[in-house]
Amino acid sequence: MKVLLTGGAGFIGSHVALNLLKRNHDVVIVDNLSNSDKSVVGALEKETKKHIAFYKIDCCDKIELNKVFKSEKIDAIIHFAGFKAVGESVKKPIMYFKNNINSALNTIECGLENDVNLFIFSSSATVYGSCEKMPLSEDSPTGVTSPYGRTKLVIEEMCKDICTANPKFKAIMLRYFNPIGADSSLVIGENPKGIPNNLMPYLCKVATGELEKLTIFGSDYPTKDGTCIRDYIDITDLALGHIAALEKANTLDNGINVFNLGTGKGVSVTEIVSTFNSVNGNLVPFVYGKRRDGDVAVCYAECSKANKVLNWKAEHALSESCRNAYLYNKKKQEKQ
Ligand code: UFG
Repeated sequence: MKVLLTGGAGFIGSHVALNLLKRNHDVVIVDNLSNSDKSVVGALEKETKKHIAFYKIDCCDKIELNKVFKSEKIDAIIHFAGFKAVGESVKKPIMYFKNNINSALNTIECGLENDVNLFIFSSSATVYGSCEKMPLSEDSPTGVTSPYGRTKLVIEEMCKDICTANPKFKAIMLRYFNPIGADSSLVIGENPKGIPNNLMPYLCKVATGELEKLTIFGSDYPTKDGTCIRDYIDITDLALGHIAALEKANTLDNGINVFNLGTGKGVSVTEIVSTFNSVNGNLVPFVYGKRRDGDVAVCYAECSKANKVLNWKAEHALSESCRNAYLYNKKKQEKQ
């Protein structure tokens, strides 16, 4: 299949591109490079010895985006393009609504106008809001805790209405839990700009000496060790979840299909820090600090639907994700 990846130069998009190419699909990447680098495309081409059609386009620009649909014969869309920093979205809600909603709408509209009826959306566990009943299944109640989360939920809801009006349209919502790691080739990985907000990139920057120490946000949560629990999924497993959705799409009904992509296992912040330190050699000093606003105590997935319907499950060990994430960052630092 020829697959359009919007935001395909980013962390998740680039790992999906790599795995699509490995399975002999063709890849077209549209990215405005606002939070990614063109060099990722070259790295992917070098690693796979395959060509990627790359367009530096903002999906909010429908005229330019439509030209891509006209010149490439696209079979399916995987839509990643969007802003993703929870805290920033609280400060700049308009920027988030304008960008994330418009880019999704334009992409779907261009697809429909060009008879591309398969749309896979990069959704998030954030659509479960502050639901307290764990594990979270696709039927758990949804909710919103930030403007970023609202954009994910609104796009999912929009897809439902678009499916109703277009019986040929198939939309697959992939709700990611916490993606971490890097491809084992170490040619691509996570490259946040500035000081990272997320745990794994922060751990990596402490380990490489770019940051002094990790602050664990909160040690008084009602969990086994007092720190928050999340479902950390290896980026390659997550990428393979997209391939499974794409390749099984013809067995799914038209309309909206929702899948959790996680491991089904909750891991505390203390556990992840100690795993990281044990596989990489005690590189991360840490202190306990105050809770971070907006964090829920526990969030992990129930993934049996993806297992049953898509024949997919997460397989990488947490230690492997910690190792690859660190080695990727170390290699990047050595190159500089
Ligand atoms: N944490 C720390 N110190 C840090 C950074 C994070 O202790 O310096 C803790 C957080 O408090 C949290 C855990 O590590 O308990 C994970 O935090 P992340 O920021 O890595 O991830 P979140 O679970 O907050 O958010 C992630 C994605 C969001 C998505 C959400 C959905 O980043 O995009 O999962 O559940 F919306």
